[in-house]
Amino acid sequence: MIKPSLLIVDDEKPTREGLRTALEDHYDVYLAESGASAMELLEKESFDVLLTDFRLPNEDGLKLIARAKSLSKPPICILMTAYGSEELAVEAMKKGADDYIAKGRMQIDELDMRIAKAMRQRALEAENSALRQQLNNRFGLENIIGDSQPIKEVLDIVRQVAPSRAPVLILGETGTGKELIAKAIHQLSPRSKQPLVTVHCAALSPTILESELFGHEKGAFTGAHEQRIGRFEKAQGGTLFLDEIGEIDATLQIKLLRFLGERTFERVGSSKTLTADVRLVAATNRNLEEMARLGTFRNDLFFRLRVVEIRLPALRERLTDLPLLSLSFLKEFSRENGKAISDFTPEALEALLAYSWPGNVRELRTAVEHAVVFSRGDKITARDLPPTIYKKPNASPGQPAPRGFKTDDLTVKEVEKQLVVRALRECAGNRTTAAKKLGLSRRTLHRKIHAYHLENL
Ligand SMILES: Nc1ncnc2c1ncn2[C@@H]1O[C@H](COP(=O)(O)OP(=O)(O)OP(=O)(O)O)[C@@H](O)[C@H]1O
Ligand SMILES: [Mg+2]
Repeated sequence: MIKPSLLIVDDEKPTREGLRTALEDHYDVYLAESGASAMELLEKESFDVLLTDFRLPNEDGLKLIARAKSLSKPPICILMTAYGSEELAVEAMKKGADDYIAKGRMQIDELDMRIAKAMRQRALEAENSALRQQLNNRFGLENIIGDSQPIKEVLDIVRQVAPSRAPVLILGETGTGKELIAKAIHQLSPRSKQPLVTVHCAALSPTILESELFGHEKGAFTGAHEQRIGRFEKAQGGTLFLDEIGEIDATLQIKLLRFLGERTFERVGSSKTLTADVRLVAATNRNLEEMARLGTFRNDLFFRLRVVEIRLPALRERLTDLPLLSLSFLKEFSRENGKAISDFTPEALEALLAYSWPGNVRELRTAVEHAVVFSRGDKITARDLPPTIYKKPNASPGQPAPRGFKTDDLTVKEVEKQLVVRALRECAGNRTTAAKKLGLSRRTLHRKIHAYHLENL
């Protein structure tokens, strides 16, 4: 087993040597006779424990502890004081010491025990903070529903990039959850305690947007009666989410490009250069790549923005998530409307699955809300759905359901089975293409084929 490293600082040689002899069985002991030489060692390599006398030449033990605690990997610090100096002990704890011990009556056993206790304490804290981090991770992603392959891949990227300050560009059709992902990135980042500031670029005229983002000085333009702090400054230390980035004009594109390169900007009407520590997340439902190619969006800015690119799948590309999403929205709106609706009828679910969802998850959410409002029973029926999604048949009852589903008594699992069957048939049994169509990994599809006994399809 590797012994923990211990640095003993005392200007009296007999004490240093005595402590070394007493402790070297349990620790890898290093010695220093002054604060300065101790600091030199501490800066060169990290120690687990620092045991220092209060009285040192030039610089006292408290100052040494304060400096040691400011290192990136601070050691556990224990101060040795003269017997009875309680005030000094209190002061030591304030400066970051983990423990103190009266030198005069110090017993080696007790010292050994105290060091061990401080080390256990530290291990516990590290474990707690790891647990807290995990909890945060779950918290940030708990609102994002779906376990299809495309959404899993998105969440993997989110987890990976959240801790860095790299700019992220989120692409996807309207209603696919771009804003939701932007929020998750902020929440999972070390910036989560600082502000997340959102700007909807399309909602403002170019001049207003510029002063909104960068701020302006009093009198910068007609109507600028007061100095204004921009969103960049407000987002200091945090994240700035630029929604609908495809809509910003050429002047602003240049200003953004400069910020991304140098982290500097000026308020409108000011020549004073400011800096801000802000992480940029941008989103658009436009084809920015195409715009960059055609010259309507700066190519260089496009490349700077998409250091990390996240493409959100359309809902129709991850239909296997639809039952789960629908049920979650159903719960939400039933509660909100004071109704006790527990499920969808198979026919309703099937109508949802057959629809193309140009408005993606947002459209699904609104459709479920509509259905909850119109529902009279304890299950959502197809007739409760908006007419765009379910056209009420006026022809003979019992006409076949769209896309060849059998409708009697389907459960969510059954619907899933039917989806798998349909995809396999449409792809003539080719599992790779069928998996892609369903938004599942090949392995997951394989499992489902097995579970539903569809091996012969
Ligand atoms: N995976 C998901 N799980 C749960 N809810 C989702 C998911 N994706 C989107 N939503 C919900 O759908 C709605 C639309 O999401 P959001 O506003 O993030 O979309 P968007 O991509 O920003 O759309 P737009 O381009 O129109 O601005 C929100 O109510 C959001 O909570
Ligand atoms: Mg949005």
